[in-house]
Amino acid sequence: MKILVTGGLGFIGSHTVVALQNKDYEVVVIDNLSNSSLKVLEGITNITSKTPEFHKLDLRDKSSLLDFFAKHQDISGIIHFAASKAVGESVENPLLYYENNLAALTYLLQNLVNLTEQNIIFSSSCTVYGEASELPISESAPVKKAISPYGNTKQVGEEIISDTCAAYDNLKAISLRYFNPIGSHPTNEIGELPIGTPQNLVPFITQTAIGKRKELSVFGDDYPTQDGTCIRDYIHVMDLAEAHVVALERIMSSKTEENFEVFNVGTGIGSSVLEVVKAFENASGENLNYKIVGRRPGDVIAAYADTKKANMTLGWKAKRSLEEALKDAWEWEKSQAKARV
Ligand code: WQD
Repeated sequence: MKILVTGGLGFIGSHTVVALQNKDYEVVVIDNLSNSSLKVLEGITNITSKTPEFHKLDLRDKSSLLDFFAKHQDISGIIHFAASKAVGESVENPLLYYENNLAALTYLLQNLVNLTEQNIIFSSSCTVYGEASELPISESAPVKKAISPYGNTKQVGEEIISDTCAAYDNLKAISLRYFNPIGSHPTNEIGELPIGTPQNLVPFITQTAIGKRKELSVFGDDYPTQDGTCIRDYIHVMDLAEAHVVALERIMSSKTEENFEVFNVGTGIGSSVLEVVKAFENASGENLNYKIVGRRPGDVIAAYADTKKANMTLGWKAKRSLEEALKDAWEWEKSQAKARV
Protein backbone atom coordinates (compact mmCIF):
# COMPACT_ATOMS: atom_id res chain seq x y z
CA MET A 1 0.00 0.00 0.00
CA LYS A 2 1.24 3.51 -0.88
CA ILE A 3 1.19 6.08 1.93
CA LEU A 4 1.79 9.81 1.46
CA VAL A 5 3.62 11.52 4.33
CA THR A 6 3.60 15.32 4.11
CA GLY A 7 6.42 16.92 6.12
CA GLY A 8 8.02 13.48 6.01
CA LEU A 9 11.56 14.83 6.50
CA GLY A 10 10.65 16.63 9.72
CA PHE A 11 11.30 15.39 13.25
CA ILE A 12 8.15 13.30 13.80
CA GLY A 13 7.55 12.78 10.07
CA SER A 14 10.92 11.10 9.45
CA HIS A 15 10.49 8.75 12.41
CA THR A 16 7.03 7.86 11.10
CA VAL A 17 8.41 7.15 7.60
CA VAL A 18 10.84 4.70 9.27
CA ALA A 19 7.98 3.04 11.17
CA LEU A 20 5.93 2.75 7.94
CA GLN A 21 8.83 1.32 5.91
CA ASN A 22 9.59 -1.12 8.73
CA LYS A 23 6.06 -2.45 8.12
CA ASP A 24 6.70 -2.66 4.36
CA TYR A 25 4.48 0.23 3.35
CA GLU A 26 5.50 2.05 0.17
CA VAL A 27 6.07 5.66 1.25
CA VAL A 28 5.90 8.88 -0.77
CA VAL A 29 7.26 11.96 1.01
CA ILE A 30 6.35 15.56 0.28
CA ASP A 31 8.45 18.20 2.05
CA ASN A 32 9.30 21.82 1.16
CA LEU A 33 12.61 21.52 3.09
CA SER A 34 11.86 24.76 4.98
CA ASN A 35 12.63 23.04 8.27
CA SER A 36 14.59 19.95 7.20
CA SER A 37 17.22 18.70 4.74
CA LEU A 38 17.82 15.87 2.28
CA LYS A 39 20.29 14.39 4.80
CA VAL A 40 17.20 13.12 6.63
CA LEU A 41 16.25 11.11 3.51
CA GLU A 42 19.74 9.54 3.70
CA GLY A 43 19.18 8.72 7.38
CA ILE A 44 15.85 7.03 6.63
CA THR A 45 17.53 4.97 3.89
CA ASN A 46 20.39 3.97 6.21
CA ILE A 47 17.94 2.74 8.84
CA THR A 48 15.48 0.88 6.59
CA SER A 49 17.60 0.21 3.44
CA LYS A 50 14.73 1.75 1.47
CA THR A 51 14.55 5.29 0.06
CA PRO A 52 11.01 6.69 0.00
CA GLU A 53 9.88 8.46 -3.19
CA PHE A 54 10.53 12.16 -2.48
CA HIS A 55 8.96 15.32 -3.92
CA LYS A 56 10.17 18.78 -2.88
CA LEU A 57 6.81 20.49 -2.87
CA ASP A 58 5.07 23.25 -0.93
CA LEU A 59 1.45 22.44 -0.09
CA ARG A 60 0.59 26.13 -0.56
CA ASP A 61 1.37 25.70 -4.29
CA LYS A 62 -2.09 24.66 -5.47
CA SER A 63 -1.19 23.78 -9.06
CA SER A 64 1.85 21.65 -8.11
CA LEU A 65 -0.32 19.84 -5.57
CA LEU A 66 -3.02 19.19 -8.19
CA ASP A 67 -0.33 17.92 -10.54
CA PHE A 68 1.09 15.64 -7.84
CA PHE A 69 -2.28 14.02 -7.14
CA ALA A 70 -2.99 13.60 -10.86
CA LYS A 71 0.10 11.37 -10.93
CA HIS A 72 -0.56 9.66 -7.58
CA GLN A 73 -4.14 8.38 -7.70
CA ASP A 74 -3.03 5.11 -6.03
CA ILE A 75 -2.36 6.56 -2.56
CA SER A 76 -4.19 4.58 0.16
CA GLY A 77 -3.58 6.95 3.07
CA ILE A 78 -2.05 10.27 4.07
CA ILE A 79 -0.23 11.27 7.24
CA HIS A 80 -0.18 15.07 7.32
CA PHE A 81 2.72 16.58 9.30
CA ALA A 82 3.68 19.52 7.06
CA ALA A 83 3.08 22.65 9.15
CA SER A 84 4.90 25.38 11.06
CA LYS A 85 5.16 24.51 14.74
CA ALA A 86 6.95 27.17 16.79
CA VAL A 87 4.58 28.70 19.35
CA GLY A 88 6.57 31.92 19.78
CA GLU A 89 7.06 32.46 16.02
CA SER A 90 3.33 32.04 15.49
CA VAL A 91 2.63 34.99 17.80
CA GLU A 92 5.02 37.20 15.81
CA ASN A 93 3.91 35.95 12.39
CA PRO A 94 0.32 34.65 12.60
CA LEU A 95 -0.41 34.97 8.87
CA LEU A 96 2.46 32.60 8.03
CA TYR A 97 0.84 30.07 10.37
CA TYR A 98 -2.69 30.53 9.03
CA GLU A 99 -1.44 30.16 5.45
CA ASN A 100 1.01 27.30 6.01
CA ASN A 101 -1.07 25.33 8.49
CA LEU A 102 -4.63 25.99 7.33
CA ALA A 103 -4.69 27.17 3.68
CA ALA A 104 -2.32 24.33 2.80
CA LEU A 105 -4.51 21.84 4.68
CA THR A 106 -7.53 23.06 2.70
CA TYR A 107 -5.71 22.58 -0.63
CA LEU A 108 -4.67 19.07 0.45
CA LEU A 109 -8.25 18.16 1.37
CA GLN A 110 -9.60 19.57 -1.90
CA ASN A 111 -7.44 17.00 -3.66
CA LEU A 112 -8.30 14.14 -1.32
CA VAL A 113 -12.06 14.43 -1.69
CA ASN A 114 -11.66 13.93 -5.46
CA LEU A 115 -10.08 10.51 -4.90
CA THR A 116 -12.25 7.40 -4.30
CA GLU A 117 -11.67 6.45 -0.67
CA GLN A 118 -9.23 8.53 1.39
CA ASN A 119 -7.81 8.23 4.88
CA ILE A 120 -5.93 11.02 6.63
CA ILE A 121 -4.07 11.18 9.94
CA PHE A 122 -3.77 14.74 11.23
CA SER A 123 -0.92 15.93 13.44
CA SER A 124 -2.57 17.81 16.29
CA SER A 125 -1.42 18.77 19.76
CA CYS A 126 -2.41 18.72 23.43
CA THR A 127 -2.07 22.50 23.15
CA VAL A 128 -5.75 22.49 22.16
CA TYR A 129 -6.68 21.77 25.80
CA GLY A 130 -4.89 24.83 27.20
CA GLU A 131 -4.81 24.62 31.04
CA ALA A 132 -7.01 21.54 31.43
CA SER A 133 -9.25 21.56 34.49
CA GLU A 134 -8.83 17.80 34.98
CA LEU A 135 -5.67 15.66 34.94
CA PRO A 136 -4.84 13.34 33.29
CA ILE A 137 -6.37 14.94 30.19
CA SER A 138 -8.90 12.85 28.26
CA GLU A 139 -10.21 13.46 24.72
CA SER A 140 -13.49 14.67 26.24
CA ALA A 141 -11.72 17.56 27.98
CA PRO A 142 -12.98 20.86 26.56
CA VAL A 143 -10.92 22.48 23.80
CA LYS A 144 -10.04 25.89 25.21
CA LYS A 145 -9.42 29.18 23.39
CA ALA A 146 -5.92 28.83 21.94
CA ILE A 147 -3.26 31.05 23.50
CA SER A 148 -1.17 31.11 20.32
CA PRO A 149 -1.93 31.18 16.59
CA TYR A 150 -0.02 27.86 16.40
CA GLY A 151 -2.41 26.24 18.87
CA ASN A 152 -5.34 27.85 17.03
CA THR A 153 -4.25 26.27 13.73
CA LYS A 154 -4.44 22.85 15.40
CA GLN A 155 -7.94 23.52 16.71
CA VAL A 156 -9.22 24.99 13.44
CA GLY A 157 -7.39 22.30 11.47
CA GLU A 158 -9.35 19.63 13.33
CA GLU A 159 -12.61 21.48 12.65
CA ILE A 160 -11.81 21.81 8.92
CA ILE A 161 -11.13 18.07 8.70
CA SER A 162 -14.14 17.13 10.79
CA ASP A 163 -16.47 19.30 8.64
CA THR A 164 -14.97 17.83 5.46
CA CYS A 165 -15.46 14.25 6.71
CA ALA A 166 -19.09 15.12 7.49
CA ALA A 167 -19.61 16.47 3.96
CA TYR A 168 -17.79 13.73 2.04
CA ASP A 169 -18.44 10.10 2.98
CA ASN A 170 -15.32 8.99 1.07
CA LEU A 171 -13.00 10.67 3.61
CA LYS A 172 -12.09 9.25 7.02
CA ALA A 173 -9.75 10.95 9.51
CA ILE A 174 -8.06 10.52 12.85
CA SER A 175 -6.53 13.46 14.69
CA LEU A 176 -3.66 12.58 17.01
CA ARG A 177 -3.17 15.09 19.83
CA TYR A 178 0.51 14.75 20.75
CA PHE A 179 1.93 15.55 24.13
CA ASN A 180 5.66 16.29 24.19
CA PRO A 181 7.68 14.32 21.62
CA ILE A 182 11.37 13.83 22.55
CA GLY A 183 14.29 11.57 21.72
CA SER A 184 15.51 10.17 18.42
CA HIS A 185 15.95 6.90 16.57
CA PRO A 186 18.46 4.71 18.48
CA THR A 187 20.68 4.43 15.37
CA ASN A 188 21.39 8.20 15.54
CA GLU A 189 20.59 8.38 11.82
CA ILE A 190 17.65 10.75 12.41
CA GLY A 191 16.63 12.98 15.30
CA GLU A 192 15.50 16.44 16.31
CA LEU A 193 17.17 19.27 14.35
CA PRO A 194 16.10 22.51 16.02
CA ILE A 195 17.02 25.58 13.97
CA GLY A 196 18.75 28.28 16.05
CA THR A 197 18.15 28.42 19.80
CA PRO A 198 15.94 25.47 20.79
CA GLN A 199 12.53 26.52 22.14
CA ASN A 200 11.83 23.07 23.59
CA LEU A 201 13.23 21.70 26.85
CA VAL A 202 15.01 18.51 25.80
CA PRO A 203 17.04 19.85 22.86
CA PHE A 204 18.07 22.77 25.08
CA ILE A 205 19.17 20.29 27.76
CA THR A 206 21.26 18.22 25.33
CA GLN A 207 22.82 21.32 23.75
CA THR A 208 23.74 22.58 27.24
CA ALA A 209 25.28 19.21 28.17
CA ILE A 210 27.34 19.15 24.95
CA GLY A 211 28.57 22.69 25.67
CA LYS A 212 26.72 24.46 22.85
CA ARG A 213 24.65 26.45 25.43
CA LYS A 214 26.03 27.88 28.67
CA GLU A 215 23.19 26.74 30.91
CA LEU A 216 19.54 25.75 30.89
CA SER A 217 17.08 28.38 32.12
CA VAL A 218 14.27 26.71 34.02
CA PHE A 219 11.22 28.85 33.37
CA GLY A 220 9.78 29.23 36.86
CA ASP A 221 9.78 27.11 40.02
CA ASP A 222 6.81 28.79 41.69
CA TYR A 223 4.05 26.73 40.07
CA PRO A 224 1.61 24.73 42.25
CA THR A 225 3.42 21.42 41.57
CA GLN A 226 5.49 19.16 43.81
CA ASP A 227 8.79 20.90 42.99
CA GLY A 228 7.35 24.15 41.63
CA THR A 229 8.21 23.46 37.96
CA CYS A 230 5.77 22.67 35.14
CA ILE A 231 4.67 19.13 34.40
CA ARG A 232 4.50 17.59 30.91
CA ASP A 233 4.05 14.17 29.29
CA TYR A 234 7.27 13.40 27.42
CA ILE A 235 6.81 10.66 24.82
CA HIS A 236 9.55 8.94 22.80
CA VAL A 237 9.27 10.01 19.17
CA MET A 238 9.40 6.33 18.05
CA ASP A 239 6.36 5.54 20.23
CA LEU A 240 4.60 8.51 18.67
CA ALA A 241 5.61 7.37 15.15
CA GLU A 242 4.22 3.88 15.80
CA ALA A 243 0.94 5.41 16.99
CA HIS A 244 0.54 6.98 13.53
CA VAL A 245 0.89 3.62 11.80
CA VAL A 246 -1.65 1.99 14.14
CA ALA A 247 -4.10 4.89 13.60
CA LEU A 248 -3.72 4.71 9.81
CA GLU A 249 -4.30 0.94 9.82
CA ARG A 250 -7.42 1.53 11.91
CA ILE A 251 -9.05 3.83 9.35
CA MET A 252 -7.76 1.96 6.29
CA SER A 253 -9.35 -1.23 7.65
CA SER A 254 -12.50 0.90 8.29
CA LYS A 255 -12.70 -0.26 11.92
CA THR A 256 -13.73 3.24 12.95
CA GLU A 257 -17.19 3.91 14.34
CA GLU A 258 -17.28 7.43 12.92
CA ASN A 259 -15.53 9.29 10.09
CA PHE A 260 -13.56 11.58 12.43
CA GLU A 261 -11.90 10.39 15.63
CA VAL A 262 -9.50 12.03 18.10
CA PHE A 263 -6.86 10.31 20.26
CA ASN A 264 -4.48 11.70 22.86
CA VAL A 265 -1.00 10.30 22.31
CA GLY A 266 1.18 10.40 25.41
CA THR A 267 2.66 8.09 28.02
CA GLY A 268 0.14 9.07 30.72
CA ILE A 269 3.09 9.97 33.00
CA GLY A 270 3.65 13.59 34.05
CA SER A 271 7.25 14.71 34.68
CA SER A 272 8.32 18.11 36.04
CA VAL A 273 11.13 20.10 34.43
CA LEU A 274 13.44 19.35 37.37
CA GLU A 275 12.54 15.65 37.16
CA VAL A 276 13.51 15.69 33.47
CA VAL A 277 16.81 17.37 34.37
CA LYS A 278 17.47 14.68 37.00
CA ALA A 279 16.48 11.88 34.62
CA PHE A 280 18.79 13.34 31.98
CA GLU A 281 21.72 13.45 34.43
CA ASN A 282 21.04 9.80 35.35
CA ALA A 283 20.66 8.73 31.71
CA SER A 284 23.75 10.60 30.46
CA GLY A 285 26.06 10.63 33.49
CA GLU A 286 26.48 14.37 32.86
CA ASN A 287 25.90 17.14 35.39
CA LEU A 288 23.60 19.76 33.92
CA ASN A 289 24.17 23.49 34.35
CA TYR A 290 20.87 25.19 35.01
CA LYS A 291 19.37 28.19 36.77
CA ILE A 292 15.83 29.07 37.77
CA VAL A 293 14.48 32.16 35.98
CA GLY A 294 11.02 33.72 35.60
CA ARG A 295 7.99 31.97 34.13
CA ARG A 296 7.58 31.78 30.31
CA PRO A 297 4.32 33.42 29.17
CA GLY A 298 1.81 30.90 27.82
CA ASP A 299 3.10 27.89 29.76
CA VAL A 300 0.39 25.71 31.32
CA ILE A 301 1.05 24.32 34.81
CA ALA A 302 0.55 20.67 33.91
CA ALA A 303 -0.46 18.54 30.93
CA TYR A 304 -0.31 14.75 30.72
CA ALA A 305 -2.48 12.30 28.82
CA ASP A 306 -5.28 10.00 29.88
CA THR A 307 -4.21 7.13 27.61
CA LYS A 308 -7.28 4.90 28.10
CA LYS A 309 -8.84 5.64 24.70
CA ALA A 310 -5.58 5.12 22.78
CA ASN A 311 -4.89 1.91 24.73
CA MET A 312 -8.41 0.43 24.48
CA THR A 313 -9.77 1.69 21.14
CA LEU A 314 -6.60 2.27 19.14
CA GLY A 315 -4.82 -0.68 20.72
CA TRP A 316 -1.63 1.34 21.17
CA LYS A 317 0.49 2.05 24.25
CA ALA A 318 3.82 3.86 24.64
CA LYS A 319 6.60 1.34 25.32
CA ARG A 320 9.72 3.47 25.91
CA SER A 321 10.63 5.25 29.16
CA LEU A 322 11.58 8.88 29.78
CA GLU A 323 15.14 7.78 30.57
CA GLU A 324 15.37 5.85 27.28
CA ALA A 325 14.15 8.88 25.32
CA LEU A 326 16.64 11.17 27.08
CA LYS A 327 19.48 8.70 26.47
CA ASP A 328 18.59 8.56 22.76
CA ALA A 329 18.39 12.38 22.65
CA TRP A 330 21.83 12.61 24.27
CA GLU A 331 23.41 10.03 21.92
CA TRP A 332 21.90 11.95 18.97
CA GLU A 333 23.34 15.26 20.25
CA LYS A 334 26.80 13.69 20.59
CA SER A 335 26.57 12.23 17.09
CA GLN A 336 25.65 15.67 15.71
CA ALA A 337 28.62 17.25 17.50
CA LYS A 338 30.95 14.65 15.94
CA ALA A 339 29.44 15.34 12.51
CA ARG A 340 30.09 19.08 12.97
CA VAL A 341 33.81 18.54 13.63
C1 WQD B 1 8.31 22.05 28.28
C2 WQD B 1 8.55 22.58 29.69
C3 WQD B 1 8.78 24.96 29.80
C4 WQD B 1 12.53 25.23 27.57
C5 WQD B 1 5.54 22.86 23.06
C6 WQD B 1 4.39 23.21 22.18
C7 WQD B 1 3.62 21.97 21.86
C8 WQD B 1 4.55 20.95 21.24
C9 WQD B 1 5.70 20.64 22.20
C10 WQD B 1 4.48 21.07 18.84
C11 WQD B 1 7.76 23.85 29.96
C12 WQD B 1 10.07 24.26 30.22
C13 WQD B 1 11.39 24.73 28.19
C14 WQD B 1 13.55 25.81 28.36
C15 WQD B 1 12.26 25.38 30.34
N1 WQD B 1 5.05 21.40 20.01
N2 WQD B 1 11.27 24.81 29.55
N3 WQD B 1 13.37 25.87 29.72
O1 WQD B 1 5.78 24.25 25.76
O2 WQD B 1 5.10 21.96 26.70
O3 WQD B 1 5.05 22.35 24.25
O4 WQD B 1 6.37 21.90 22.44
O5 WQD B 1 3.56 20.32 18.65
O6 WQD B 1 2.59 22.27 20.95
O7 WQD B 1 3.55 24.10 22.89
O8 WQD B 1 7.22 22.18 25.39
O9 WQD B 1 9.64 21.75 25.57
O10 WQD B 1 8.84 24.13 25.12
O11 WQD B 1 8.50 23.13 27.38
O12 WQD B 1 12.13 25.45 31.57
O13 WQD B 1 14.62 26.28 27.85
O14 WQD B 1 9.92 22.93 29.81
O15 WQD B 1 8.51 26.06 30.66
O16 WQD B 1 7.36 23.82 31.32
P1 WQD B 1 5.75 22.77 25.64
P2 WQD B 1 8.62 22.83 25.80
